[in-house]
Amino acid sequence: MPTAMSEREHWTSRIGFILAAVGSAVGLGNIWSFPFQTATNGGAAFVLVYLLVVVLVGFPAMLMEFTIGRRGQSNPVKAFDNIGFGNWSFSGAFGLVGTLVTLAFYSIVGGWVLSYILGSVTGAYFGDAGAYFGSIATGPPAVVGHAIFMALTIGIVALGITGGIERATKVMVPAIIVLLAGLSAWAFTLSGASAGYEYYLTPDFDILSSNLDSIIPYAVGQAFFTLSLGFSTMIAYSSYLDRDDSLPADSGAIVIVNTAVALLAGFVVFPVLSTIGVNPGSGGAGTAFTSLAGAFGQLTGGAILGFVFFVTLLFAGLSSSISLLEVPVSYVSETYGYERSRVAVGLGTGIFLLGLPATISQTTFSWYNAIVFNFIIPVTVLMFALFVGWVASDQLSEELSLGSSFGDTFTVSWLWWVRLVIPVAIGLTLVLGIQSLLLKGGIIDAAIILG
Ligand code: PFF
Repeated sequence: MPTAMSEREHWTSRIGFILAAVGSAVGLGNIWSFPFQTATNGGAAFVLVYLLVVVLVGFPAMLMEFTIGRRGQSNPVKAFDNIGFGNWSFSGAFGLVGTLVTLAFYSIVGGWVLSYILGSVTGAYFGDAGAYFGSIATGPPAVVGHAIFMALTIGIVALGITGGIERATKVMVPAIIVLLAGLSAWAFTLSGASAGYEYYLTPDFDILSSNLDSIIPYAVGQAFFTLSLGFSTMIAYSSYLDRDDSLPADSGAIVIVNTAVALLAGFVVFPVLSTIGVNPGSGGAGTAFTSLAGAFGQLTGGAILGFVFFVTLLFAGLSSSISLLEVPVSYVSETYGYERSRVAVGLGTGIFLLGLPATISQTTFSWYNAIVFNFIIPVTVLMFALFVGWVASDQLSEELSLGSSFGDTFTVSWLWWVRLVIPVAIGLTLVLGIQSLLLKGGIIDAAIILG
């Protein structure tokens, strides 16, 4: 075990860890992407596939990262060393690269959200939300939004695990849930509510079956992205855990809350869109930011509700972005001994610069997305599965059972699942993902955030 263990910060409580991990998981992916992807991919039929994937692939994959992190008690690169397999550090480093690229484009979307909060106050998007999106999505306003969002992210991470991340997520996560529940109650009163629910909850198995080859990789990719898996993030967060926590119980709680938030977002988006007569399945970044925002502009009380919606989205985005920045910050500060706050500022600035090309060109933006979804996530998860299942299986299955009351059968089944099912699922995803990329002749498919 590392000597630095006692010097490292630890979450002050189990709930502190769960809220931070839920904060990482609940993000723009849940509130923006999920409802719109559901709409285009067959409504409730897609939700069923997605739920299956979350339970069968997401939950066991989260336990892979949790066992590595808690056993390793260090940043996602050094953790492998501490477990006794330093030659596997490259897999954690690969996920770390994913956090840099992801944060670069995620922060741009965070900047858009800031512009919409401002627009809710000034009324700038009420008249023509499409024109407003066009004016803020790229160029100087996008750069300013991106800079402010990154500065907020840096500020929280600089304050550390307990003083920054844990404190911020203890406020933001409950706020996201309360605000979203409030918005869904308001949406229930709208004239288009029942039509919206019908659209959302009626399974269209035709769309599902005719697009299964692109829906499966999407559902798998979205499940990993939404649970923050394949980036080493959950390794980093669980490395601040004490040994007496039950990893399966914590993981179950995180998966359930994350899924509930995504489903709840649908109960806001669909009634709103159907009230103003917009087809939610029309898809695309523009449509997503414009149609919903446009609806807020048209509905009574929409200004306030739009404000609330975008503040909710800001909390969701920030509680995720801090986990993305935590991965490289923990690595650099622990490896080179630099002060966390300086590292946060330095790396945050670097990531801001990395994002700049994507504020100019939507194509670059889509490429960043595509690299993350089609390449980094599946490859990282595959490496973790091989490591956990075949390389460090003794140590990590022991780690799973520490503090857990789930018993040996659970541990053994999990291990075999990780050994066999996860690699097959990833292999299938990679093949289908590449195939649909080639067949459909573009990278737009992969632009998940864009919806
Ligand atoms: N889970 C976040 C979302 O759904 O928006 C995105 C994310 C956060 C992905 C942190 C990866 C990560 F490490």
